[in-house]
Amino acid sequence: MQKKRVLSGVQPTGALHLGNWLGAIRNWVELQNEYETFVCVVDLHAITIPHNPQELKENTLKTAALYLACGMDPKKCSIFIQSHIPAHSELCWILNCITPLNWMERMIQFKEKAIKQGDNVSLGLLDYPVLMASDILLYDADLVPVGEDQKQHLELARDIAQQRINSRFSKKGSPILKVPKPLIIKEGAKIMSLCDGKNKMSKSDPNENSRIALLDSADMIRKKIKKARTDEHFGLEFNNPNRPESENLLGIYSMLSGKQRETVSEECSNIGWGKFKPMLTDAIISSLEPIQTKYNFLRKDPEYLNQILSDGADKATILSNLTLNKVRSAFGFLPKID
Ligand code: AMP
Ligand code: TRP
Repeated sequence: MQKKRVLSGVQPTGALHLGNWLGAIRNWVELQNEYETFVCVVDLHAITIPHNPQELKENTLKTAALYLACGMDPKKCSIFIQSHIPAHSELCWILNCITPLNWMERMIQFKEKAIKQGDNVSLGLLDYPVLMASDILLYDADLVPVGEDQKQHLELARDIAQQRINSRFSKKGSPILKVPKPLIIKEGAKIMSLCDGKNKMSKSDPNENSRIALLDSADMIRKKIKKARTDEHFGLEFNNPNRPESENLLGIYSMLSGKQRETVSEECSNIGWGKFKPMLTDAIISSLEPIQTKYNFLRKDPEYLNQILSDGADKATILSNLTLNKVRSAFGFLPKID
């Protein structure tokens, strides 16, 4: 039987952090054993807000190397750079022409990011979710593992595929595009800022202390956890709506130590923040250490990394062109005869 397919991606907009790992990448590592897996570095998405070209190049390589360092295995999955596959931009244009503008204006992430950009909101920022739909639909992905914040974008991709393409352009019985499903694993789906348990940990937060980057040194991690916001209560607990910092940090501790939530609840119910913080720090440092070692090793061998990205792009080109050609033909574009 044909394996089901998984596709996901992360933007190379800054240092990947614990939220990216626990909410997304860590799940891909499990999925690659069971599914045909494609993961891309979505560099075209990264230019929807003002960017620095030199940093984009470095961050693109860094992100790809981190995928590998986190355990993505090129024997089991294809890793590629979005802009190496022109079909993403082309399908995006086609989908733009059948997607209602009012669907886009509802997107929560657009509204949040647009506020930050002031007068400088690009058309690309509004279009971001359509490009993401193209990424997914080009590969006939069955499942898209992402964090909670991407749920609305996934729904948009489903609506575009179903309501705007399949129901309008398919000949009876054979849909043109596969309608993907989100895969949001509850644990880790929303890691919160270290400075405010009510805000998501994010690459774009101007305060570096709000997140742990996967490449932070042990010293840096120690400092950031020392500064992390706490509350005045003694003992840590889950499920107390008045204690978002306890929920978040105890959750991170449970995930990284590999101990069940009930176990850490018990272990930490009778200790104060002063005792808990060093335990959390140790768990973070020892989880990130193997990733950092592998990352440093990979960055010393750019040829190896380039070869993986080139193999990934070859596979992605073949699959994406199949879908693009189906859509072109359904839309009535005249084929080029060589
Ligand atoms: P981004 O950093 O926006 O490119 O996100 C890349 C992936 O990480 C997406 O699947 C997001 O849903 C996930 N992600 C980003 N921030 C968090 C967070 N704070 N908690 C959990 N998942 C996250
Ligand atoms: N928008 C996603 C994010 O910020 C990144 C992304 C772009 C993506 N294209 C994708 C994720 C396709 C999954 C599938 O997290």
